[in-house]
Amino acid sequence: MPTATETVSAAPLAAKLVKRAKNEDGSALYPDYLPYYDPLEKVDDIGYFEHFDPGHRADPKLPNLLANATRVVELSPHVGTEIEGVQLSQLTSEGLDELALLAAQRGALVFRDQDFINIGFEAQKKIVRHFGPLHIHGWAPHPAAGSAEHMIVYDHKEYVDEPATRDLRVRRSWKGRSPVQWHTDQSPEPQPPGATFIAMLESPAAAGGDTLVSSSVQAFKSLSPRFRKRLEGLTAIHANNDSVAQELKNGENAVMRRRGLVQEHPVVIVHPVTKDKALYVNPVYTKRIVGFDEEESDYLLRFLFDHIAKRQDFQCRVRYEAGTVLVWDQRVTNHSQTLDYPAGDRRHAFRLTPLANKPIPAKIEEDDGECAEDYARVQLDLC
Ligand SMILES: [Fe+2]
Repeated sequence: MPTATETVSAAPLAAKLVKRAKNEDGSALYPDYLPYYDPLEKVDDIGYFEHFDPGHRADPKLPNLLANATRVVELSPHVGTEIEGVQLSQLTSEGLDELALLAAQRGALVFRDQDFINIGFEAQKKIVRHFGPLHIHGWAPHPAAGSAEHMIVYDHKEYVDEPATRDLRVRRSWKGRSPVQWHTDQSPEPQPPGATFIAMLESPAAAGGDTLVSSSVQAFKSLSPRFRKRLEGLTAIHANNDSVAQELKNGENAVMRRRGLVQEHPVVIVHPVTKDKALYVNPVYTKRIVGFDEEESDYLLRFLFDHIAKRQDFQCRVRYEAGTVLVWDQRVTNHSQTLDYPAGDRRHAFRLTPLANKPIPAKIEEDDGECAEDYARVQLDLC
């Protein structure tokens, strides 16, 4: 006869496996946030605006942001920090300034069990507007209960009670392709997003639906100094025409609210607050290097896209439960979905996306001694 302890340890895995929250009747946990598409809605360009990054005002010791923090964990050396004990909804204006600074420094910040998801559209927008005017997406859905600035991320197979609860747009848009596509959101905007919020409302039952984040600062730093010099001063064309076409082809509820965007940006940018240099190209939106012949541009971009995708030594992976909020700075990171959970399981989130500064080009410095200061390179005679 097994002892009591052995009986427990032999219990079936299914009984012990942690499951995320689901409604028993299969309905969405957050029906007000179900995706809604208005076929007649149009969105105008926001136009040029002066952007003052709140990170400039931040106290670098982060006393307001971390006042109630109980634990701070780095998810990887170069990107990602998880902060426990802090409610984003309770941060003061100074706390939000410090959030902007830390997001710029660490790329991505994870907060769990956030009442932010329960405070309503207007209170959510008020907090995120601290970082810049909110972007309205050109084709992704809004919440059924209103608020054009909330971008809904939704994947689920079943009709429950309304057609709107069935939406396979996300899965269809990656049909026949890897769903792992590194990008910064909306890089073809003239003033692309900075610190951005994604709030998870409902996750797949067991695991999956994570976000991968890569440091664009370390992506640049990890290149040889001479190659970095070659990249500085270059510009590239970013366009969303492929994404728009894909969306319209595959999305059963897709609408087109806004014209396609084409924009030229520096290949290496400088963060306005930290002054860190970051590689600013991504495989989804960056189309060509200006002034290079097509083959040269393709060759260089392919190398840079591979560099971003392969270098897991400057990536982290963010797992979500309902109530997890990821705040990340798009100017210093690339990210990707995973779409690794069982097809048909519900994943439901919203994104609020503040626009920021016009990308600042990195200046070419003839001999800045960077290589001599890089101990890892000096040690290996790589300067
Ligand atoms: Fe994205």
